[in-house]
Amino acid sequence: MICVSLTKEIENQLNKSRKKNKTIGLVPTMGSLHMGHLSLIERAFKKNDIVWVSIFVNPIQFDNSSDLENYPKNLKNDISKIEHLSEKVRIFNPTVKEMYKDGVSINYYDFEPLDTIMEGKFRKNHFNGVATIVFKLLKLFNPNDVYFGEKDFQQVLIIKKLINIERFELNLIVSETIREENGLAYSSRNNHLTNSDRKKACVIYESLIFIKNNFKKKPLNILRTNVISSIEKIKNFKVQYLEVLDNNSLRPYNKESDDSLHRAFICVVVNDIRLIDNILLN
Ligand code: PAJ
Repeated sequence: MICVSLTKEIENQLNKSRKKNKTIGLVPTMGSLHMGHLSLIERAFKKNDIVWVSIFVNPIQFDNSSDLENYPKNLKNDISKIEHLSEKVRIFNPTVKEMYKDGVSINYYDFEPLDTIMEGKFRKNHFNGVATIVFKLLKLFNPNDVYFGEKDFQQVLIIKKLINIERFELNLIVSETIREENGLAYSSRNNHLTNSDRKKACVIYESLIFIKNNFKKKPLNILRTNVISSIEKIKNFKVQYLEVLDNNSLRPYNKESDDSLHRAFICVVVNDIRLIDNILLN
């Protein structure tokens, strides 16, 4: 299996593919691959001749050094999860020095209001850090299609805007959230939970379903209070945010915009581990 860590080598590989008119799909990840990542990769196989999976823990999107240090890394394990899937798959696993040749620095974009709430509010500069690395990857690969997960829906909207600002000509393909058997969305962070907390964390998806089933039947503030109190009854579970927002603009729900699509977003912190999820309501 082709596993490359140098950008120069990527350029050689891409030139070879382009000469043969092969289409390129790119799946950006931070590794520690799970079923959610694999679903994006499988989807890319269906549409592209070559699928590059980038595995890079991007330091500038972490506002907390212990979060960065504790982020799980296991390249060997990641390779073993995908190498047998298809001959189309290749891995790009650069070093920080390789990705930030001119020094580690953040590009600042005007994403407002998308980056001032939820993940943007609680993780300072997170989205500019994400946009900086995704910009570099898109510039390097110039893929036909790039794949992202709905699980990080706010990130998807940021990437959509980035593609627009930078005028990339490619398809942004968004895939549904893949869940563990109890409904908990797969996340690299789930491995940090104790077995008992991992079981109890099904409350997150259950709460989203509850909001979906009762949206417009009961006032939002009542739904929010019910959900927050039932989650926070569980030891060590704390709701960091719970929002119902317009699906495109992320503006708060109001009765005048009743016809547009809305989505509920939640972040629950379990013993310092942040778990996020969302659901389309209508
Ligand atoms: P990471 O958390 O590794 O996620 C990589 C991709 O997998 C993202 O598009 C994410 O939305 C998707 N994903 C994660 N869990 C999923 C699930 N349960 N179901 C479906 N898709 C899921 O997101 C990042 O990395 C980084 O911010 C990155 C974009 C790579 C930039 O560094």
